[in-house]
Amino acid sequence: MNKDLREAARDHLVRYGQGDIEKLYVSAKGATVTDDEGREILDFTSGQMCATLGHSHPAIVKAIKSGAEDSIHLFSGMIPEAVAKLAKKLGQWLPKPLSRSMFVNTGSESNEAALRMAKMVTGGYEVIAMGGSWHGVTGQAAAMSFASERHGYGPKVHGVSAIPEPYSYRCPIGHCRDKCDMSCMKVGLKMFDMTSEGAPAAIIAEPILSAGGVIIPPDGYFKKLKDEASRRGMMLIFDEAQTAFGRIGEKFAATGLGVTPDIMTVSKTLGGGLPLAATITSDEVEEKAHAKGYSYYTSHVSDPLPALAGLAVLETVEKENLLERAKEMGAYLRKNLDSLQQKYEAIGEIRGQGLLMGIDLVKDRESREPHLELGDITTKRCMEMGLSMNIKRRPERGAVWRIAPPLTVSKDELDKGTEILDQALRESLDELAGNGAG
Ligand SMILES: Cc1ncc(COP(=O)(O)O)c(C=O)c1O
Repeated sequence: MNKDLREAARDHLVRYGQGDIEKLYVSAKGATVTDDEGREILDFTSGQMCATLGHSHPAIVKAIKSGAEDSIHLFSGMIPEAVAKLAKKLGQWLPKPLSRSMFVNTGSESNEAALRMAKMVTGGYEVIAMGGSWHGVTGQAAAMSFASERHGYGPKVHGVSAIPEPYSYRCPIGHCRDKCDMSCMKVGLKMFDMTSEGAPAAIIAEPILSAGGVIIPPDGYFKKLKDEASRRGMMLIFDEAQTAFGRIGEKFAATGLGVTPDIMTVSKTLGGGLPLAATITSDEVEEKAHAKGYSYYTSHVSDPLPALAGLAVLETVEKENLLERAKEMGAYLRKNLDSLQQKYEAIGEIRGQGLLMGIDLVKDRESREPHLELGDITTKRCMEMGLSMNIKRRPERGAVWRIAPPLTVSKDELDKGTEILDQALRESLDELAGNGAG
């Protein structure tokens, strides 16, 4: 452990919400992260949900090495061969009529670009997003995010409305319990229609509301949302930052749902850990946008090096059959979690798809009051015991662990993580009941 470096981090870094800097991390491989004391930590969050192939997968390392030799960055108007290759490969994956991509860096950016496109093509500016959404922290993306912190940053982009999220475990309109009848959508759209300034542009949605608590909308929800969008002359945008490229056992959530949006954004899971995102649409929409002078000219649009990493991700998902693996390992993890639920009243609901799971913690199963404290102390205890877990905690939407290990995780690793979680939960509950050593 290098004390100087720890001190340097404490003295010279801006804290962006991650809490106190207690230690540093030095390497990551597969599903394991190693800290500056040489301790190994099992990673149940795939980094920030980006290392779906596992950390430093050999295919990504190889792509980065060869990309660095060829060209790292070019003038934004020059299209590198690597970008053409990735666009072609991605085009083969996409549900029709989606076929064209623009490669940018982050999820926030891909959503900014999507909204610029929807606004330009429709001529409107009004956007509907879902309660509990997270689309990023840049201007427009932050305006359409309702799970992130909104206080203290000044006025948001005008024209964004929220519709209540279809969260039947804790229905935001107090209407359903366990089975959503989509009244939330009806109410939300009614409010939008009442308050609209007559310039509709887009509805944006995460197919699974991840940061909002791993909320899975009911069957038929997105088909209806698409119909409602087109009735209003709005484009439907799917933000597939977390759901694309295998995480949920599908190429895209859109493929599984059988609903193709007008614009799709992908990010986190595309770059194998490198910043790479894309704004994707059909020939028809792209043609209209281009004809109207659409531009999104940034320093790193179409950079060659991350494009090669993206290509390696798609090829590896195919070669290692990771869509199937996500389903298989997801089912295995689910069985483990179900057995924990049988032991602990505090596990109110487990939901998810593939290797994207949510555990909703409650004080008791009848009231479903969120157990925020239990979430906090257990997450901390897991980390001390060598398991990295991500808790999403909002009083209105509960304390929900989002579990998303790499798709390459082994059964042994899933068992080990479950054992740590089991022990951490038991000890935390004891501590809260005043029985434990704490
Ligand atoms: C669904 C979704 N969209 C967009 C973003 C923003 O992506 P980024 O942090 O890469 O800007 C996130 C980040 O968590 C996300 O979960």
